[in-house]
Amino acid sequence: MSENSELDVLLKTEQTFPPPPEFAANAEFRDPEVYGRADADPESWWADWARDLDWIEPWESVLDWTNPPHATWFDGGKLNVSANCLDRHVAAGRADQVAYHWEAEDAGLEDEPVTGVGSDAGGRISVTYGWLYEQTQRLANVLRERGVGRGDVVGIFMPMVPEAAVAMLACTRIGAIHNVVFGGFSAESLKERMESSEAKALITADATLRRGQPMPMKSAIEGALEDLPAMETVVVFNRCGTTPPMKAGRDIGWTESLEAADPVCEPEAMEAEDPLFLLYTSGSTAKPKGIVHTTGGYLTHATATHRMVFDLKPDDVYWCAADIGWVTGHSYIVYAPLANGATSIMFEGAPDFPARDRWWEIVERYGVTILYTAPTVIRSFMKWGEELPAAHDLTSLRLLGSVGEPINPKAWLWYHEHIGGGRCPIVDTWWQTETGGIMISPLPGITTTKPGSATRPLPGISAAIFDHNGDEIEEGGGTLVLTRPWPGMARTLFREPERFVSTYWEKFGPATYLVGDAARRDEDGYFWIVGRIDDVINVSGHRLSTMEIESALVSHPDIAEAAVIGIPDEHTGQAIIAFVIPNDEATGDSSDELREHVATRIGKLARPKEIFVTDDLPKTRSGKIMRRLLRDIADGKELGDVSTLRDPTVMAEIEAQVGEKDRT
Ligand code: PRX
Repeated sequence: MSENSELDVLLKTEQTFPPPPEFAANAEFRDPEVYGRADADPESWWADWARDLDWIEPWESVLDWTNPPHATWFDGGKLNVSANCLDRHVAAGRADQVAYHWEAEDAGLEDEPVTGVGSDAGGRISVTYGWLYEQTQRLANVLRERGVGRGDVVGIFMPMVPEAAVAMLACTRIGAIHNVVFGGFSAESLKERMESSEAKALITADATLRRGQPMPMKSAIEGALEDLPAMETVVVFNRCGTTPPMKAGRDIGWTESLEAADPVCEPEAMEAEDPLFLLYTSGSTAKPKGIVHTTGGYLTHATATHRMVFDLKPDDVYWCAADIGWVTGHSYIVYAPLANGATSIMFEGAPDFPARDRWWEIVERYGVTILYTAPTVIRSFMKWGEELPAAHDLTSLRLLGSVGEPINPKAWLWYHEHIGGGRCPIVDTWWQTETGGIMISPLPGITTTKPGSATRPLPGISAAIFDHNGDEIEEGGGTLVLTRPWPGMARTLFREPERFVSTYWEKFGPATYLVGDAARRDEDGYFWIVGRIDDVINVSGHRLSTMEIESALVSHPDIAEAAVIGIPDEHTGQAIIAFVIPNDEATGDSSDELREHVATRIGKLARPKEIFVTDDLPKTRSGKIMRRLLRDIADGKELGDVSTLRDPTVMAEIEAQVGEKDRT
């Protein structure tokens, strides 16, 4: 059964899940009046949340939206993010509270947690707020001594270790803007992101563990660093004990420099609208977009949504199993949990190492109460079988979350039953890198959920479905838009202010944010996100641009032209399929080589699942590639309208080639 028809069946059966009474009775938000209250006065709603933060100077106005799409939140207010995440908890006597229970990928079952050491010690570590506080200040001083200060960009290219959080917090302490690049990206991608953000410093590691083996990071990017003249400092954390090359004058070791640094670093008083971080994400062109988030609004949005959506309680053991390299890691592993004083799990490895029950072992060991992950991982667990979670005590869990792509009802129901034991509400959270934090999601103590629907916009958030003319569709499908400013909204694209306006705020006027997703609204006003409508592919919750992959393919000397599409995939949500036209000099079948070429240019996650070598591509008379037709072929669907093609016969040839491959 295809995902859609399954969804339709569920819609027809109207299977719904009200909050379990016991959960609702203890939830911080249990009265639906909160929606009306927030809607009646969104500014005071967000201001109330902002008041929970520590401000150095109070703000003068909550929101200025007189010049959309340029919003100013908490104008005049000053704060420091690291002080909100660390200092205030330490000052309140919570220095010894665990911020992260960190597990090395290769931790042995018998390893006992150790306090007061870094992840270079391996094993299991209890990372306390006090430890983070000290490490952050030391690293902040190291950066300051190297001339990094307010407004400078610092790259971060790290494994999943607590030191990655320290690196981010140290930047915020001195007002530097971090630019984290996912550790799985290639040296080329890192270079591109460092170059276009003019990063002055980079914080990285010698290597990262992959299935027990160190995979070099620093030596892999050495060549790229040589091409970055603006890069004055590279701080190298020694995670795996390998000895990467170190360039005198530029590269410094983490441990030695932190030891030598002053342990006290006063936090910079940042303006609410000062940039906090840049995060590059894929758009509909080959060039990634540098999303800019600012300080006061972002932290308000992240902390508020973290408390609302996860019903956070002081004794929760919270696990957001994302990577720090993505926005989910920024908002819901680092900033919101730390600012909210939570105790989290941070796990370095993959769900199937050394065995496929590793996650359930972790849940049982630490008594995890909240688990937040992606549908693609849930589908892997489904494939591996329910016996694995069943062999562990998962009764500590009380709430489950999903993010990154639409969750198919089958996976939702499996998650609910086999992980949540039928008793945990599921929060399916819709948001994006650009929104900074969760936008559409159930409130677990209030919302009756429907498997596959992210339900309703959070209190204070306003979303709608528009048709092509910008008219609202109350019930039915169309384009998802956000119709009111929110504090975590991206403020611009780094060095590309016009692109920010034209991509998100032009189609329906300057006050309506174009999401780039298609969605449907049902008779109860629930939103069902269908997927991207731009040239973006979502593979296992990773956002990739078709244009970026195409440009990587044509950079291979054998390839003249390329077209990339995303097709539905049972496990990864979408899969990348490429059609390439070799040039005259090309020899033999180079599919494997091409896949490796894409991995080198972008990263392994962008490797096409399948590459079809063809003689031509379907193009309109003006030369535009009709990817829609390629999608139809790859899906084995009846071909759509081919009348606008310059050469309609090309479709038959491609179909034959695809069919040939299917048979082999
Ligand atoms: O298409 C939507 C999908 O992921 C896109 C955003 O990707 P990214 O910026 O990488 O952020 C991912 C983590 C927030 C969205 O435009 N998406 C994200 N969450 C959901 C989703 N689609 C459906 N349901 C979700 N819960």
